[in-house]
Amino acid sequence: MKWKLPLVCALLGGSAAFGADLAATPPMGWNSWNLFAEKVDDATVRGITDAMVASGMAKAGYVYVNIDDTWEAGRDANGNILTNNKFPDMRALADYVHSKGLKIGIYSSPGPKTCAGYEGSYQHEEQDAKTYAAWGIDYLKYDWCSADKVYKRTDMPAVYKKMSDALKATGRPIVFSLCQYGLDKVWTWGAESGGNLWRTTGDIEDKYSSMSTIGFDKQQGIAQYAGPGHWNDPDMLEIGNGGMNTAEYRTHFSLWAMLAAPLLAGNDIRRMDADTSSILLNAEVIAIDQDRLGKEGWRVKKEGPTEVWMRPLADNALAVGLFNRSEMLQDMAFSLDDLNLKGKYKVRDLWAHRDDFELKRDKPFSATVPAHGVVLVRLTPR
Ligand code: GLA
Repeated sequence: MKWKLPLVCALLGGSAAFGADLAATPPMGWNSWNLFAEKVDDATVRGITDAMVASGMAKAGYVYVNIDDTWEAGRDANGNILTNNKFPDMRALADYVHSKGLKIGIYSSPGPKTCAGYEGSYQHEEQDAKTYAAWGIDYLKYDWCSADKVYKRTDMPAVYKKMSDALKATGRPIVFSLCQYGLDKVWTWGAESGGNLWRTTGDIEDKYSSMSTIGFDKQQGIAQYAGPGHWNDPDMLEIGNGGMNTAEYRTHFSLWAMLAAPLLAGNDIRRMDADTSSILLNAEVIAIDQDRLGKEGWRVKKEGPTEVWMRPLADNALAVGLFNRSEMLQDMAFSLDDLNLKGKYKVRDLWAHRDDFELKRDKPFSATVPAHGVVLVRLTPR
């Protein structure tokens, strides 16, 4: 029998959803934790869902609406997980989110308690996975928290795989997000444990010092572990939460795009100012993050407080970021040699939205980069 491509695809279809098709590019959406923490409830999630559509976020690719910690109550007599009174009907909420063309995420811990002290999934993994699937959940963030009390550190890969297997057994494609702060080089085993993404560090804060340390310093040497279906996660976005200025938030977004990081907005989408939406909705920067080659970028040059990063893109294009970590303007430049390239490239500035340069031998690109800011360009071969 001669195999026809559509037939093969149809046969593979079911399982393909669990491979690189799920999170083929870094997941995009929103998460409640960074701004709302415990103050998240059904009405807020519905309001955010509406705003995701109205603001253009949904159209720009932000599809997951994720409820973080603090939704859990205890369990019923049969051990089924219960929602607390902030979330009276999770199935109805999921239906609402789905009715707007979006997907919904939830949070738990492999330990007895979550980080905020709510009910975890310990000894109820399969049961919880089934409940999530029955509710229509599309994404699970699984946060180590109190698991240290009941497991050894060396159990971690198996503990995560247990929940991944339970999710797969439900038959519903559910993105699986590992959150254990980068312990034990999670990037080396996260994909084998079924992770579509794994946090690489502790929690981000809405401060330049926190964002820049996580983004510039703590992602070194791990780019090779990311790819379609399994991503390094430097934590959720703080853009729009007020602790950084516009140049710093542009740096945050540009750096996360260079890192092929999940883009989970953490602000109040219902009340975005113009600067915030111009950052989160910059389609050209989103396109870098979501590039189908799925290759994470890395730092190629560091001189004092300035850093040049590159990321290879599909069709032999590249993204290059000139980052200034100092508190003064800096003149920066890069040449073809810095990137180990030959030929000629068109250079497009992705924040000024301008094609304004041709890069070639003996003609480096230079720019003045604002304090804590970035000039991000896309290079297209001529
Ligand atoms: C941990 C995680 C955070 C958040 C909180 C919730 O600190 O790293 O992202 O989920 O728990 O309690």
